[in-house]
Amino acid sequence: MNDAQITGLLHQINDGHFVARALHVVAELGVADFVGADGAPVAHVAERVGAKPDLLARVVRLLASRGIFRLEGGLATGRIYHTPASERLATAHPTSFRPFVRNTATIRSWRLPEHMTHMVRTGQPAVGEGTMWSQLEASAEDGRLFDAAMTAKSHTQIAGLLNAYDFSGLGRVVDVGGGAGHLLRAILAANPAVHGILFDRPDVVAAAATLGADERLEFVGGSFFDDVPAGDATLLMEVLHDWSDEECVRILKTIRRRAEPRNRLLVVEADVGEGDGPNWGKLLDVIMMTLFAGRQRTRSEFEALFAASGYRLTEAIPTDDGSRVFVGMPV
Ligand SMILES: C[S@@+](CC[C@H](N)C(=O)[O-])C[C@H]1O[C@@H](n2cnc3c(N)ncnc32)[C@H](O)[C@@H]1O
Repeated sequence: MNDAQITGLLHQINDGHFVARALHVVAELGVADFVGADGAPVAHVAERVGAKPDLLARVVRLLASRGIFRLEGGLATGRIYHTPASERLATAHPTSFRPFVRNTATIRSWRLPEHMTHMVRTGQPAVGEGTMWSQLEASAEDGRLFDAAMTAKSHTQIAGLLNAYDFSGLGRVVDVGGGAGHLLRAILAANPAVHGILFDRPDVVAAAATLGADERLEFVGGSFFDDVPAGDATLLMEVLHDWSDEECVRILKTIRRRAEPRNRLLVVEADVGEGDGPNWGKLLDVIMMTLFAGRQRTRSEFEALFAASGYRLTEAIPTDDGSRVFVGMPV
């Protein structure tokens, strides 16, 4: 790399929060909803979302330089087209990512990275007073936006998990910290003999139950620090990364208390991988560190956590979306 390229790299990272903010702006305004399959004039989209055409076009131009939208024919007089990435920002897209971006864009989320220096120095997480979960419980609007964000980030993850793991022979699957029930509903849809229990905080489970009844799906509210119903498989997707090692052991021991010898534990987490290449796992690891003093864990780190909680790690199955399923059996 020459000096100019190095300066360019440093700018891209140092000022990358403006790229993130540009994404937040289009998600908040709903720009993708007004572009359509044949594209749309900037002026038309700007009018529909209540923005100034030339200013909106400059934000779109920045995103287009990263593959999100395409802008043709000038700024305010131009036309916006979709790319595969911008299509996923449309509200009606079956795997819409818009709720995840909108959740990150809230002041509640957006301010948290400011705490990273303090975190690195002291080990104290950003969530501060009370936990993030009690903050979400205090505002139904924030709580449901967070749940929708979790559903939105899970579409590709769920597809990867269903490809990688065979749930068909299981009688009862418990999804612990399962949020709106997106994962469990997908497992039940793909496996007609499976019954499911969605377990999460009471307000989350109550909201999930309003999304549709299914005679094979039961909703149980509670805390995984107190008691968790048993199942042939107990799933924890992106739950343990929110917690310190000590807290993870408490959660796993709660699950272990009711587990029978054949009841497996399935922990699904993004993989930090090996080597220096960028990936979502490495980024998510620092997000979890900053927010919760949590972390993404490697196979050997899960081996230690499982062993301290009465489980033996038997497999770490990679999925095609960059996650891993860490399988544990009671010992
Ligand atoms: C990061 S989200 C993951 C949601 C979902 N498993 C997914 O991956 O899309 C963590 C979940 O843990 C739940 N949670 C937090 N504290 C909990 C507790 N004490 N007992 C049960 N669930 C809890 C939250 O409500 C949230 O739904």
